[in-house]
Amino acid sequence: MAVAHRHFARRSLLFMPGDSLKKIQKAAGWEVDTVLLDLEDSVAPSQKAAARAGVAAALHEIEFNGRERLVRLNHAQTELPATEIEATAPARPDGYIVPKVESATDLLAVDQLLASAEVTLGLAAESLRLFAMVETARGVMNLPTISQACSRLEGLILGAEDLASDLGAVRTAAGWEVFYARSALVTAAAANGLQAFDMVFTDFQDAVGLEAESRFARQLGYTGKTCIHPNQTPVVNQAFAPTAAELERARRLVSAFETEHAAGAGAFTFEGRMVDLPMLAAARKVLTRAR
Ligand code: COA
Ligand code: MG
Repeated sequence: MAVAHRHFARRSLLFMPGDSLKKIQKAAGWEVDTVLLDLEDSVAPSQKAAARAGVAAALHEIEFNGRERLVRLNHAQTELPATEIEATAPARPDGYIVPKVESATDLLAVDQLLASAEVTLGLAAESLRLFAMVETARGVMNLPTISQACSRLEGLILGAEDLASDLGAVRTAAGWEVFYARSALVTAAAANGLQAFDMVFTDFQDAVGLEAESRFARQLGYTGKTCIHPNQTPVVNQAFAPTAAELERARRLVSAFETEHAAGAGAFTFEGRMVDLPMLAAARKVLTRAR
């Protein structure tokens, strides 16, 4: 049985380049659950040091008003994460994202760096959160061990652009080329009590396409989606929140169960369809998510 999520449900997670103070300031006052301060692919190689310093300064100086702040590190198999954690952990982000995770070893390397930072800074053990991006074929094949790498791990993020390139696949709007990974990731997350976050939608002018992709992700079991433009977060927040009709139906279903179970029926007809225990569990999840 999956363990309970340790933290709140995140719907929208907005990426921005760590060297863009302007974008970080905008995100700090925006309708977004989690701010993702990137040190990896959105930062030019010549700007890595400036981005580290910029992220540390932003975390110190900007008021994020309760929004979660995560820093995306560079690849675990380089010397960069050690430098990046050293530069930013004193500014107290809520946690870190490891990109292109291919094995449990990649995550354990960062887990250990975070454990030493916590000792140095006098923080409680495992107070720095950890998230893994899976965006290579090897990462997808190793999802079962990646998702059990360490108890600090809180969520998995699908990176579809890198994955498509690794697979030699052609990215399309429908996204069938990454469907296996999308489904495998949400399954691995659910099996291990982790949250699952869907891929970015790069066409940030297309709100209709974004909404459809978000709804489908939610249909698969995803609880949130990564974003790349502020226009996207209101659409994503709404798509991942249960609708009023879904909430109403879940409430009716839970109360029908109470009546039917009291009368000794396990399976019964509810609004024209057969329902039994799994539907009760699903309805309770909808109600929990709404809280
Ligand atoms: N986070 C915060 N603010 C952002 C933002 C982001 N990801 N993307 C754009 N903005 C801000 C802009 O600064 C601008 O602010 P203003 O109205 O105060 O001037 C406003 O939102 C509108 O931006 P727009 O002009 O439409 O886009 P842009 O040309 O400035 O930037 C991108 C386009 C794609 C470069 C930009 O959205 C971006 O950097 N996205 C994130 C890239 C990233 O982090 N990738 C890594 C993960 S895949
Ligand atoms: Mg990437």
